[in-house]
Amino acid sequence: MTDQKQIRNFCIIAHIDHGKSTLSDRLLEFTGTVEKRKMQNQILDTMELEREKGITIKLAPARMEYDYTPITPPNPPLKRGGTYVLNLIDTPGHVDFNYEVSRSLAAVEGAILLVDATQGVQAQTIANLFLAIEEDLEIIPVLNKIDLPAADVPARTKEIVKLIGCDPKEVLAVSGKTGEGVEALLDAIVKRIPAPKGNTDANPRALIFDSFYDDYRGVMAYIRMVDGLLEKGSKIEMIGTSARAEVLEIGAVTPNGLKPSPEFSTGQIGYVVTGLKDISACRVGDTITSGTPPNPPLKRGVTSPLPGYKDVKPMVFAGMFPQEGNDFQKLREAIERLKLNDSALIYEPEHSPALGYGFRCGLLGMLHLEILKERLEREFNLELVVTVPSVAYQVHQRSKEMIIIKSPLDLPDPSHIDFIEEPWVKLDIVTPTDYVGAVMQLVQDRRGTYKNTEYLSENRAILHYEIPLSMIIVDFYDKLKGVTAGYASMNYEVIDYREANVVRMNILVAEDTVDAFATLVYRDEADKAGRRIVKSLKESIPRANFVIKLQAAVGGKIVASERISAVRKDVTANLYGGDVTRKRKLLEKQKKGKAKMLAHGKGKVNIPTNAYLNVLKR
Ligand code: GTP
Repeated sequence: MTDQKQIRNFCIIAHIDHGKSTLSDRLLEFTGTVEKRKMQNQILDTMELEREKGITIKLAPARMEYDYTPITPPNPPLKRGGTYVLNLIDTPGHVDFNYEVSRSLAAVEGAILLVDATQGVQAQTIANLFLAIEEDLEIIPVLNKIDLPAADVPARTKEIVKLIGCDPKEVLAVSGKTGEGVEALLDAIVKRIPAPKGNTDANPRALIFDSFYDDYRGVMAYIRMVDGLLEKGSKIEMIGTSARAEVLEIGAVTPNGLKPSPEFSTGQIGYVVTGLKDISACRVGDTITSGTPPNPPLKRGVTSPLPGYKDVKPMVFAGMFPQEGNDFQKLREAIERLKLNDSALIYEPEHSPALGYGFRCGLLGMLHLEILKERLEREFNLELVVTVPSVAYQVHQRSKEMIIIKSPLDLPDPSHIDFIEEPWVKLDIVTPTDYVGAVMQLVQDRRGTYKNTEYLSENRAILHYEIPLSMIIVDFYDKLKGVTAGYASMNYEVIDYREANVVRMNILVAEDTVDAFATLVYRDEADKAGRRIVKSLKESIPRANFVIKLQAAVGGKIVASERISAVRKDVTANLYGGDVTRKRKLLEKQKKGKAKMLAHGKGKVNIPTNAYLNVLKR
């Protein structure tokens, strides 16, 4: 059994691309966990999509054994030498998975705050740092990429010192690429991060910081043993969901595979195979407990759950439709499959006259949506049309009942509505001070409320705002990058729901309402939004041999309209000479015919699928 005092549990928190995976590779290599010749870049990012995009989506723990000899003169001898078990938990860096980040932070005692020395502190660095501080973690600030000529160690050190108030000497400098400074970092991990606390003799409590479905073994979880001990064969209970199961296998996770062990003691990090069939029974943040085997699990309430179990709620909804109508069944199977591993995803069938049968999916945010779409397309060979996402509005009805609407079409008749609320977020933007004006303008245009500014240094600022989620989900990030020459970074977090004066806007094409274009818009922006949509449609719908009317309507009122003129057949072409009256007569006749066609034009307009995607892009 590993001595609890010789365990160090930690994670690396960083802004996207600051080098987390590369540094993890070096740690695995330095500790001899993975042989250099077997080293494959970014070994912890296992999903194909993760490798390709270079981002971390699923977190995975990695156990290393490190033969430690103190490299700085021990004065007084700080830590004894010997073999230490270092458990590194890989965390996703993106805001959509904030809850997973906070759970993995709750499983460790220390965090390496990794900052790219060429770019400095960014929005996600700060967001993750605050999560780490909330969990009371020992923070080791590290500047990375010092091999690059643009690395400015003194300036970046100042930023970090300002941010966390540490001694400049505590800031380490490394290169994940060359390995420089990595040994000093391992030394700091052993010395500065405390060994896990927790009571070996107490009832077992294990925190689930990730769970997933394995085709052969059913539901598995990554856990941190907080108290006590679990063994193979232990009868277990998840306190939050009350689900019961048995430990079929338990052990450590290493980059070389799973290493089962007969028992698993306080402070350890690893995996457990539960045999459960349903992932929602074994959720991130829940606590596993057990009686002493072979006794049955303890009654609920005897062992208190670890803090932090919560249901994560989808914040963004979008329709997904197969481009080929007969792929619906295939899409259903694919979504069911992905759902096995994604407890945050919800979906229900949806039908649209224009797009056919599909699903309305609820997701944590835009990255989550993008990942879902890409996985469906890649792993299941589907081609999809994704409708413009909308946020989860809470509609309070006069009957006092509150419903969450997943689609603008679900909005009840206005006469039944008391008021509507929408999610608001706290938005933090880190930007060079040169672009502050442009950022302010952008956020103001999106109905954001300015809170305050903090300075990381003379030329870099953090702007704090509150803004409706709906205003940042579609194209805000691209716009932000656009107005700051790519330098700004952002992070957001849902804070609450606030009243929103929104109305449903219908779009009529040739006097026919097209459901898939319905949106909820702010009442005071309805005209503007309507004009934008009909204009966009005018550009994407091909002309027909009759005039196509495009209209935006709120209630019964048309707020904007456009026309797509007809492809005109030249009926006068074969008339010779200058018989003006005859010509005019023919044109009149043609006009009448067209008016007829317009009235009968319903359903004849061909709306290309890209029109759906173009329509709400600002
Ligand atoms: P996410 O998982 O998306 O958060 O990214 P990450 O933080 O894991 O970053 P990753 O390790 O993928 O590195 C991002 C880029 O920086 C890659 O192109 C790396 O090759 C490069 N990189 C990482 N560390 C170093 C370093 O020390 N020096 C240099 N020159 N490049 C580095």
